[in-house]
Amino acid sequence: MDSGLRDKVVLVTGASGGIGSAVARLVAQEGARLVLHGHKNAAQLAKLKAELGVETYTHLADLTVEEEVEGLFEAAVGHFGQLDVVVANAGIWPKEDVPIHRMSLERWERTLATDLTSVFLCARAFFRVLDRLRPESAALVLVGSTAAVFGEEGHADYAAAKAAMTYGLTRTLKNEIVRIVPRGRVNAVCPGWTWTPMSEEGLRDPDLVRRVLTTRALRRVARPEEVAQAIVFLASERLAGHVSGEILTVAGGMEGRLLHHPAEVDPTQA
Ligand SMILES: NC(=O)c1ccc[n+]([C@@H]2O[C@H](COP(=O)([O-])OP(=O)(O)OC[C@H]3O[C@@H](n4cnc5c(N)ncnc54)[C@H](OP(=O)(O)O)[C@@H]3O)[C@@H](O)[C@H]2O)c1
Repeated sequence: MDSGLRDKVVLVTGASGGIGSAVARLVAQEGARLVLHGHKNAAQLAKLKAELGVETYTHLADLTVEEEVEGLFEAAVGHFGQLDVVVANAGIWPKEDVPIHRMSLERWERTLATDLTSVFLCARAFFRVLDRLRPESAALVLVGSTAAVFGEEGHADYAAAKAAMTYGLTRTLKNEIVRIVPRGRVNAVCPGWTWTPMSEEGLRDPDLVRRVLTTRALRRVARPEEVAQAIVFLASERLAGHVSGEILTVAGGMEGRLLHHPAEVDPTQA
């Protein structure tokens, strides 16, 4: 199916990571031009650029730093002269399970800065570009998490940041973007466990995988390409031109979390 993204300029944050690189590959197949953002992994960005076969511009930036976000967007528009789609995908998931009574303020602030403030900075920079260039259409796709939908024990920082960006930002910015670009749209994709560098260490633990698969209809973990397909669908005006403010969960029919192992439950105490 033709997404209509040919010759559009698409900026993907976190393109050096698992889901971001899958988005970049799919967008390139659709004939769009790409701004590939990474934080530290310049080698991975260079490898991806060499593989894509469309015009790309790569840029490293720490998206928690205001000046670096502004520099990214200025350079992107300076290179291509336009910017049609932003996929705000970069993020971290601190691996260690830490209940809130043991969570340091440092961890809380670092996660909020990386997973929420960075999205505010990118959305603001994108909307400023839209205000200046006034394109006919535009799309912002945010990458949240099932942690936003179901919460995540031991990861209150991550769940809070993802909930704020998916529910708070998506549903507010869909109304703000149309004041600038009447056909502008804002949506979010919430992946569940997906095979990427972020999750692969955890997914080596069969006990964790069993707990994860017990909670979803499709008894497997997503591939990054499956998340990327949902993102590209929402990015495309041709495919999703009347879809805005939606939060699309890509998690195999996940219903919640397994809280207790069957062995931990005593039916006589029910
Ligand atoms: N994988 C999953 O199971 C899963 C599940 C739910 C939601 N998600 C969400 O999906 C998105 C992508 O995750 P992924 O699995 O593809 O992770 P990943 O492979 O670890 O990639 C993370 C990306 O974020 C970038 N990044 C990290 N800190 C940054 C910072 N301070 N400034 C700018 N960029 C920064 C990294 O850049 P460098 O590598 O260049 O340093 C990398 O490109 C994240 O928002 C994540 O929360 C993932």
